[in-house]
Amino acid sequence: MKILVLNGSPMEKSRTRGITKLMKELLEEKGATVEYIDLGLEKLPLFPGDGGNENNMRLKKLYKEAEKADGFFIASPEYHNGMSGALKNALDFLGGSHFKHKPAAIAAASGGSKGGINALNNMRTVLRGLYAMVLPDQFVSDPYCYDEEYNLVDREAVERLELMANLLFEMTEKLAKTQTGQLR
Ligand SMILES: Cc1cc2nc3c(=O)[nH]c(=O)nc-3n(C[C@H](O)[C@H](O)[C@H](O)COP(=O)(O)O)c2cc1C
Repeated sequence: MKILVLNGSPMEKSRTRGITKLMKELLEEKGATVEYIDLGLEKLPLFPGDGGNENNMRLKKLYKEAEKADGFFIASPEYHNGMSGALKNALDFLGGSHFKHKPAAIAAASGGSKGGINALNNMRTVLRGLYAMVLPDQFVSDPYCYDEEYNLVDREAVERLELMANLLFEMTEKLAKTQTGQLR
């Protein structure tokens, strides 16, 4: 069972990466095969709208891993009340064929003061447009949840992420085995 974990922050030092790194480890501990794409380290070109970029290796990887994935974990920083432009740009390269009938869990890193919910709602709306089955549970973190290296260390935050890893793993496994999974 394959899960694609996507870090949607364009930053080279990123709190969102603290979430996705830990999620990768948690899913692998459970036995999932995890592919990992980090938009801060593997920057994509801008979606051109009318073709081009066919030979871009990073795009080829995105297409291939999204197609093979049985489920997704997608995390974004909240920027100006929405997901990052880097993540929206990456999702614009993809389509319903990559996401249809597949579970997706979402997470956000905020600047604090109860931020993050707008990015999550924005991701949920966009992923619905891609026909992903976005799980109702979601994760948001404030800056205090991280150490100086931007590892996610806050105990409650880590426990919440563990619950989400369990849920995403179970839902992906179940759905991949159903007729819906075979219809993809
Ligand atoms: C351009 C920009 C806009 C931001 N807008 C918001 C916002 O609307 N709400 C919020 O809670 N934090 C906002 N922040 C703070 C980031 O969400 C926060 O620093 C987050 O940890 C960044 O994650 P990253 O390090 O993975 O990029 C913004 C940061 C930037 C750079």
